[in-house]
Amino acid sequence: MQQKGCVVWFTGLSGSGKSTVACTLEHALAESGKVTALLDGDNIRHGLNSNLGFSATDREENIRRIGEVSKLFADTGIITLVSFISPYRRDRDRVRSRVPEGRFVEVFMKVPISICEERDPKGLYKKARAGQLKGFTGIDDPYEEPLNAEVVLEAETADGKRISPQDQARTLLDYLRSKGFLTGPSTPPQ
Ligand code: ADX
Repeated sequence: MQQKGCVVWFTGLSGSGKSTVACTLEHALAESGKVTALLDGDNIRHGLNSNLGFSATDREENIRRIGEVSKLFADTGIITLVSFISPYRRDRDRVRSRVPEGRFVEVFMKVPISICEERDPKGLYKKARAGQLKGFTGIDDPYEEPLNAEVVLEAETADGKRISPQDQARTLLDYLRSKGFLTGPSTPPQ
């Protein structure tokens, strides 16, 4: 395979753009012939983890299972994109420790809650503010920011210009290329 398996782990608040960037990155990788998998709430929380809710213990188990699945994918050489809030540092670090050294790429979507709330694609911030949804991350449930993420993606430049998901995906693509994930093991000259 002209690639190396890895886990690209997006973490951030709801509405921070994790899934959009993961999806954009997946398309870009597919276009250059890479084999990828994308794990997100749509395919995991409705299937494998349909018995889990949003308590701290359920979120922990959610991330543990996703971590194990993504490790299996990465071990077979697949570039595995994973998009969940994953609010607890300890849970993310546990996944990191299960993946071979250097193969876990933590991507922090560093987007202020004000922007996430303004986007509110599913109307959930509104519900949480109205008290109709309890334990919503960022409102009345914690989000622990990564301390040493491999990549930090912000929503705006220093002078206040919005950064598009395409540009964020490009940053990641450059990172993956620079770390050698997009080439196979070098073959000795014939
Ligand atoms: S995680 O905390 O366990 O990593 P996960 O990424 O799977 O969360 O699911 C988050 C999505 O579930 C949110 O984008 C939102 O659509 C929905 N959701 C429903 N209830 C909550 C809640 N209490 N907190 C956060 N997200 C919630």
